[in-house]
Amino acid sequence: MPENASALAVPLSQRAPAYDLAALRRRIPILATTIPMNNCSQAPQTLATRAAAERYLESWAARGMDWDAWVAEVDAAKREFARLINASADEIAVFSSVSEATSAVASALDFTRDRTKVVVTEAEFPTIGHVWLAQESRGARVEWIPVCEGRIDATEYERLVDDRTAIVSATHGYFLNGFKQDLPRLVAAAHERGALLYVDAYQTLGTVPVDVKELGLDFLAAGNLKFLMGIPGIAFLYVRRDLAARLEPSVTGWFGRANPFAFDVKQLDWSPTTSRFDTGTPPIVNAYVARAGMEMINEIGVGAIRSWLEVLGRRLIDGGRARGLDLLGTDDMAHKTATTAFIVDEAHVVEAKMRERGIIASARGPVIRLSPHFYSTVEDVDATLDALVAVLGDR
Ligand SMILES: Cc1ncc(COP(=O)(O)O)c(C=O)c1O
Repeated sequence: MPENASALAVPLSQRAPAYDLAALRRRIPILATTIPMNNCSQAPQTLATRAAAERYLESWAARGMDWDAWVAEVDAAKREFARLINASADEIAVFSSVSEATSAVASALDFTRDRTKVVVTEAEFPTIGHVWLAQESRGARVEWIPVCEGRIDATEYERLVDDRTAIVSATHGYFLNGFKQDLPRLVAAAHERGALLYVDAYQTLGTVPVDVKELGLDFLAAGNLKFLMGIPGIAFLYVRRDLAARLEPSVTGWFGRANPFAFDVKQLDWSPTTSRFDTGTPPIVNAYVARAGMEMINEIGVGAIRSWLEVLGRRLIDGGRARGLDLLGTDDMAHKTATTAFIVDEAHVVEAKMRERGIIASARGPVIRLSPHFYSTVEDVDATLDALVAVLGDR
C-alpha cells in the first residue's frame, strides 16, 4: 500500500506488532467495512464474543436452567480477569458496573473516626466522583486533585494526601484524553500516609500491563466493554486479600456470604475471600462475553498490545500535529493510554461525519477521541486522521 504523502514515516521494523495482526483481524467482522477508533467507548464484536453470547442462549434454550454451569462461567470470567492483573480469582468480585463496585468499596469504609478525607481526581469518570460525594452524608470529606490542560501533576498527591486521608481514588487513564497516571507513585503517596488507594482501570486494562501484586494495590476496578472487548453490564473488582478479610461492605447480598447456598436469612456471615464483595445473582450472560473478550486479550498478551499501541499513539500524535490538529494533553507516551484526543468544535457532529466515512470515533465534551486497539493498523490511523481533517475542512 502506498504511503500517504502527508503521513509521517514509521520505520519498517515498527509497521507490524509482535503478533499475527492479519489473523486476529479476521476474528473481528466489522473490520471488513469499518475502522473502529472508539475503544475508549465500546470495543467491536469478535467471533468469540458473539459465540460466547450464543453459548449462553443455547444453554438456556436447550436446558431451560443450568445454574451450576452459569455460575461456573462467572468464576471462569473472574479467573480471566485475575490473570490480566496477576491476581487470584478469589481476590475478585463481580458487579454490573464500576459505579456499583465503587459504592461497595465506599460502603466498607468508616468515615466517622480519624480518617475522613477522600482524595479524588478531577479526571475521574463522573460516576466515581458521585459515589465519593455521596459518602459525605456518612462523614467523608472529598478533596480534589486538579486537572490542568488535560494532565495531572503527581506532586498534588503529595500535597493533599495526609494522615486524615482514608482513601485516594485515582483513575489510571483519564477518559477524556487518555492521560495515564503513574501507579507506583500513587501507591507510594497513599501508603506513605497510611491511606488506601482505589484505582479505576477501565480505560487502561487490556492495553497497559498492570500487576497488582508488584504494585501493591489495594483496590482496582474495571468494566469490560472498552479495551477488554466485552459488553456493558459487568465489571470486576480486585481487593487485596488481607484487606478484604477485614472489610464488611454494607452494599452486599447473598453471593457475599461464606456459603450463598445456605439460604440462612438471619446469618450475615462474610465470605473469607474478596467474594464477600459479591452482591446478588451475577450478570451471567455478560460473564460469558466478558470471559471470551478477556481470553483474547490474555492470549495476545498485554505487553505486546501496549508496544503496538505506543507505535500507533505516536503516529496519531505526530500525524495529527502534522495535519494542524490541536491535541488535548500530553504527547509523552509514558503518560498516555491508547486514546488520543483532539480539540474540535461540535464534537458530536464530527463523530457523525466520521461515521459517514466508515470511521467510528468518539465525541466527548470538547474533543474527538481516537482509540485504536491491538487490531488497528498504521493505515487505519492515517485514514482516520485524513478523514478528521477532511470533516473539519468541510464545515
Ligand atoms: C474510567 C471510567 N470509569 C467508569 C466508567 C463507567 O463505569 P460504569 O458505567 O460501569 O459505572 C467509564 C465509562 O463508561 C470510564 O471510562
